[in-house]
Amino acid sequence: MDAKVNKKDLNWSELGFQYVKTDFRFSATWENGKWNDGELIRDEIISIHEGAPAIHYAQQCFEGLKAQTSADGRVLLFRPNLNCERMNRTAPRILMPQVPDEMFLCAIDEVVKANYAWIPPFGSGASLYIRPMLIGVGENLGLKPASKFEFRVFVSPVGPYYKSDGLAVISLAVSDFDRAAPSGTGSYKVGANYAGGLMATQKAQELGASEALYLDATEKRYIDEAGSANIIVATKDGSLITPKSDAILPSITRRSLMVLAKDKLGMTTEERSIDLRKEFSSFDEAAACGTAAVLSPVGKIYFDDSWHNIYKDGETVGPVMQDLFDQLVGIQMGEIEEGYGWVKEVSV
Ligand code: PLP
Ligand code: COI
Repeated sequence: MDAKVNKKDLNWSELGFQYVKTDFRFSATWENGKWNDGELIRDEIISIHEGAPAIHYAQQCFEGLKAQTSADGRVLLFRPNLNCERMNRTAPRILMPQVPDEMFLCAIDEVVKANYAWIPPFGSGASLYIRPMLIGVGENLGLKPASKFEFRVFVSPVGPYYKSDGLAVISLAVSDFDRAAPSGTGSYKVGANYAGGLMATQKAQELGASEALYLDATEKRYIDEAGSANIIVATKDGSLITPKSDAILPSITRRSLMVLAKDKLGMTTEERSIDLRKEFSSFDEAAACGTAAVLSPVGKIYFDDSWHNIYKDGETVGPVMQDLFDQLVGIQMGEIEEGYGWVKEVSV
């Protein structure tokens, strides 16, 4: 059977960032010091022991990337090797076994291929979100690593993370909470970081913001990152700057945007501490960036009890972020030749 024949009849352009059950997922198990081969399965329910360390002690990590359909129907991944690298940096931090690179990358290919019918078509504004995850299962009570682990990859067609027409301008509110301690797990993609951030996001949204913005936990001065994305700032002197911090997730999108700003826009780029209050007046444009967020311009930021506009009206997209967005999405959709080897085609 040619899977390509059976595209699902979804209202692709209306999709939000929500779970949609697709047909297949990949599951592999690590036990007694080794991984089994893993396989594609249909069941989306994971049945695990009530004593599983993933549930009690958050021995769990995950990744996120997207597959896009190009204008000529190819299915493209963006830098999946970096997701593999990041999961295999995270796993040992919480005493989990690494996933062999080949298994990680093949599992993604297999799941995308098997769910071809669920990959949003070119031009729909939607994409196939891919969620690799690694969880500590098996039976345990004391604080110690699991004896058994599951590596799973599932996918879901998704629309924009921040719902809007076109390029979303979002707002951020500085959180009173810390996301991560300086030598904690902030730079690792562990679920525990996100549980701690749920209330910060809720409080930001109560203020009318799209998402929380965290400052560094030591001095509460320097920008760290948003709840689900890194931050980039275009300054009035024509530079693109991004926070240097050990407590933030090393975003693949942000690393790519810094390269594009330098190579394609001819900007000076710098990774350094950014003092929010002292430097705010030098901000020309800002954006949150990540796999889910793509590049979402930040129009205004709430701090010290009031809103501070970056763009005059807090709502218009500036030219640098528009250019960067066009470059990034153009590359991810296969419309712009990139020359970096970032885009990987899935042979469907
Ligand atoms: N920061 C946080 C906390 C995130 O959850 C994400 C999403 O993965 C990012 C940054 C962006 O990282 P990436 O661009 O690799 O998706
Ligand atoms: C992603 O962008 O892939 C993430 O993991 C962020 C998540 C909060 C959706």
